[in-house]
Amino acid sequence: MQNVENKVIIVTGASSGIGEETAKVLAKNGAKVVLSARREDRLEKLATEIGENAAYLKSDVANADDMKNLIALAKEKFGKVDAVFANAGIMPGGNMSELKVDDWMGMVDINIKGVLNTMAAVLPEFIAQKSGHIIITSSVAGTKSVPGNAVYSGTKHFVRAMLDSFRTESVLEGTNIRTTLIYPGAIKTELLNTIAPSETKSMVEDFYKNVGLESDAIANAVLFAVSQPDNVDISDMIVRPTREV
Ligand SMILES: NC(=O)c1ccc[n+]([C@@H]2O[C@H](COP(=O)([O-])OP(=O)(O)OC[C@H]3O[C@@H](n4cnc5c(N)ncnc54)[C@H](OP(=O)(O)O)[C@@H]3O)[C@@H](O)[C@H]2O)c1
Repeated sequence: MQNVENKVIIVTGASSGIGEETAKVLAKNGAKVVLSARREDRLEKLATEIGENAAYLKSDVANADDMKNLIALAKEKFGKVDAVFANAGIMPGGNMSELKVDDWMGMVDINIKGVLNTMAAVLPEFIAQKSGHIIITSSVAGTKSVPGNAVYSGTKHFVRAMLDSFRTESVLEGTNIRTTLIYPGAIKTELLNTIAPSETKSMVEDFYKNVGLESDAIANAVLFAVSQPDNVDISDMIVRPTREV
């Protein structure tokens, strides 16, 4: 069933957390991975650890040209692109009343426009080859209202609505592009680092520490979705700690 052998898979947000672990798990199962993030030293270390089945590019998902260069690198190094895991994201947090407008716009640039830049870069390939797989990291926050994280929640609802609408278009257009939305609950990564110190942040940190899952919970879900035969579309996967409400 594990059918990722020789698949070429692009992973954004590969320098830490979910993206890093997913790249490792996919590569361990025979995939060729193309790693994207801004922290080049982290990417270089990961690519060295994986070996010849990895390539990397220092790249910012908010920059459309960077995403085009990422697809070009995958084609140059491995000859094709089979799947993309659009996973890069930030979660600065805060109530709307705090008016942290720069944070709002940062989330729009990375969590929304970053995903769209990634899709715009890869879609010409997928449409031409009439196959491909787009996996996006939404969040449990993309399935409900989240006070204290309103804009983040909005960005994660956006990717859900957009990708599922795209899935239907692809069916109607006959391009056979598979789509998967992953909705993680609390996963122990560096995601909370960008939240400004506060009492709420400390509570969230405690919860993640006590209850949060390791990133392999999501990596294994991505592996499962990508491993399916071409006529099986795993459209939605919520993966959360058993002890998360
Ligand atoms: N951890 C959780 O509990 C949880 C729950 C639900 C959803 N998620 C989602 O999971 C995804 C991965 O987050 P994580 O938990 O693994 O956190 P993380 O360890 O902080 O990883 C975030 C990744 O995104 C990359 N990134 C951020 N801004 C970027 C940009 N402008 N261009 C390119 N890469 C960028 C970071 O790399 P650089 O800084 O090196 O660029 C890093 O590799 C995010 O979309 C997040 O919203 C996480």
